[in-house]
Amino acid sequence: MQTVAMGLVPAVQAIDLRKSFGELHAVDGVSFELAAGRIYGVLGPNGSGKTTLIRMLTGLGRPTAGEARVLGVQMPSRTNLARIGYMTQSDGIYPELTAAENARFFGAMYGIRDPDAAEAALAVVELSDRAGALASQLSGGLRRRLSLACALVHRPPVLFLDEPTVGVDPALRAQFWAYFHELARDGTTIVVSSHVMDEADRCDELLFMRAGRVIAQGSGGELRARAGTSDLEQAFLQFSAQGPAA
Ligand SMILES: Nc1ncnc2c1ncn2[C@@H]1O[C@H](COP(=O)(O)OP(=O)(O)OP(=O)(O)O)[C@@H](O)[C@H]1O
Ligand SMILES: [Mg+2]
Repeated sequence: MQTVAMGLVPAVQAIDLRKSFGELHAVDGVSFELAAGRIYGVLGPNGSGKTTLIRMLTGLGRPTAGEARVLGVQMPSRTNLARIGYMTQSDGIYPELTAAENARFFGAMYGIRDPDAAEAALAVVELSDRAGALASQLSGGLRRRLSLACALVHRPPVLFLDEPTVGVDPALRAQFWAYFHELARDGTTIVVSSHVMDEADRCDELLFMRAGRVIAQGSGGELRARAGTSDLEQAFLQFSAQGPAA
């Protein structure tokens, strides 16, 4: 951990990572090193491989080839379980449990005994007043909030968020992002996926994905400058036309 904080070991690393489903190369040779305490946005259209990539980084998906490392440890890794938070694209919460029970359950799964941890996580996403509600009875946006609370109840140093703000209203979306920045300032590394560009500038660095490959990586400003456009959407199209990143 110390060496990660000192920047000697990348917080998250992909080494020629590949995942194929039959003939389909969902992730087709992705390599990168992500530093601790930064927010990385994985951006790409539907089907470009974002979720497949994130699943391999969390250790849930087995690579066809290559290697994923988190905090210097090859994934999947039992020791890394408690050091990773993962908010899935489809809410991974239990519909038959209440909001509070879900948060407590995820905390317990990560070995958290502090009874206040679940409450604190619910407070962050402004769900305290719905703590006793069954997850199945929450609206879609409220379920996204609960999913986020469950992903960070154990305060992991590395957080993977798969389209966390889809279905979340604009006011809370802004709060989510403020909170992500707060976590990053405290040293948490955040990998967040999206298929919309309007959130890209909230990330420190972007990875543009297309057809299973990272076609460009850099800050929003850098990518705009390299593409010669002020519009990230345009920049993406330009990098797409150029093919994989050098
Ligand atoms: N279990 C699976 N079996 C077969 N194909 C799969 C499987 N999971 C993903 N794929 C395929 O791999 C490709 C990448 O899918 P993935 O879910 O990673 O994309 P994504 O970038 O997350 O898309 P979205 O923005 O829609 O969430 C798609 O063509 C998808 O259909
Ligand atoms: Mg996805």
